[in-house]
Amino acid sequence: SADVGLNLTNIQGDILIGMKKNKELFFFFTIVNSTSFRSQLGSGILPLITPTSQLLAVDTQPTTAVNIAFSQRGLNALGITDDLGDTAFTNGQIDNVATILGDETSNWEPAFAGTGIHGVFLLASDTIDNVNATLSQVQNILNGSITEAYSLQGQARPGDEQGHEHFGFMDGISNPAVTGFSTPLPGQQVLDPGLFLLGESGDLVSRPSWAQDGSFLAFRQLQQRVPEFNAFLVDNALSNPNLTADQNAELLGARMMGRWKSGAPVDLAPTVDDPVLAADPQQNNNFNYTHPGFDEATDQTHCPFSAHVRKTNPRSDFNPEDTANHIIRAGIPYGPEVTDAENASNVSSTDPSLERGLAFVAYQSDINNGFAFLQQNWANNANFIFGKATPPGIDPIIGTGGLGQADVPRTPSGLDPSDPTRIITINQDFVVSRGGEYFFSPSLFAIQNTLSL
Ligand code: HEM
Repeated sequence: SADVGLNLTNIQGDILIGMKKNKELFFFFTIVNSTSFRSQLGSGILPLITPTSQLLAVDTQPTTAVNIAFSQRGLNALGITDDLGDTAFTNGQIDNVATILGDETSNWEPAFAGTGIHGVFLLASDTIDNVNATLSQVQNILNGSITEAYSLQGQARPGDEQGHEHFGFMDGISNPAVTGFSTPLPGQQVLDPGLFLLGESGDLVSRPSWAQDGSFLAFRQLQQRVPEFNAFLVDNALSNPNLTADQNAELLGARMMGRWKSGAPVDLAPTVDDPVLAADPQQNNNFNYTHPGFDEATDQTHCPFSAHVRKTNPRSDFNPEDTANHIIRAGIPYGPEVTDAENASNVSSTDPSLERGLAFVAYQSDINNGFAFLQQNWANNANFIFGKATPPGIDPIIGTGGLGQADVPRTPSGLDPSDPTRIITINQDFVVSRGGEYFFSPSLFAIQNTLSL
């Protein structure tokens, strides 16, 4: 698959395929000595950076994969004055906080709200010991030219939950295929590389030449209130007479997400889970929300209009399908499993060491068309998907009903297949943004020739 067009030794490995390890540390840093940092970057750090080519074959994969990305403040600290052509990146994520993303700023981790985050190392491996050993190596090489601003340890969930996010749903199934790079699976949209890589075909913005083959990384620390989510499903379980109460609670969750916990899409498996379908890559992404004999403007018997995966990738709800607003996701869960005490009380602990959620990572060549667009114009917009008989409501997983205020009630329709006009009110956010930052993940060539001294 890796034979055409793109220079895969130049593109950092997380962008197109993801580092796909069970442990991933996000180490956010401040540059305190720019000259020293720049001289170590090319000589010492560059050889540790993992390009796409190295991740493609098992025998070339490093023990610990390393990627690096810079915020606008970080580029400023390095004395790089070129405009990368992305206002969201230039202004930083804090500038988007309330009106665009809907975050309540008081929930932001102070480091993200401050000015000290210049860049981030992504360190991924099978064990935390490996990750920490590589972090020490990086810090020794950089010799005091950076300090830690913040860090977040991501880790896959244990046992059978591996690959599932904290609400229990299989993640990492649907990402776009990229022309000239990946062979599409059935149902997978094929998009221009320029949607994800600057300066490649399909990127319409003018960029400095050194920015080619870089990508913007939107990072978000998204806390998940798992006990509250589970209690909501039980309290609002659907009423299919052929299902048990537990199954009716599961069904509600599956309809909010648009997939069962197994990963099976509800568009293909509307009333009962289908684990065999879920596990088959030839089938598990092969759907587009249209069904012969059903009216697309009214039919929610298969998948609700408001379902998370439908709001964030509406597939054939657009005709022709949307080709401008797509991201490649590469996140990983963080934090421990729910404790017995939390389960019993249906409330997330306030102990910071028990916080759990998703270390969300999205790559795109234009943040205002990618992550920020999906969150603002689709997830947080009650009228999207447009043109339906009933307004869908805000995304029941990631949407926020208030601009800058948490826990504003959301009123999605369509969750109850027996009455699509029925509104199930959600009085609480199950996903709470703890903030984040926008970064630029440069090519290896740019690291060597532009960012280093
Ligand atoms: C898909 C969970 C945040 C965009 C999914 C899937 C799950 C999921 C379980 C289905 C698996 C798959 O298709 O790979 C979550 C959770 C989140 C979260 C628990 C927060 C804690 C976000 C955010 C965005 C987003 C913030 C963008 C604004 C998408 C997209 C897809 C997806 C584009 C693929 C849809 C498709 O192609 O069918 N998410 N997600 N997600 N999510 Fe999220």
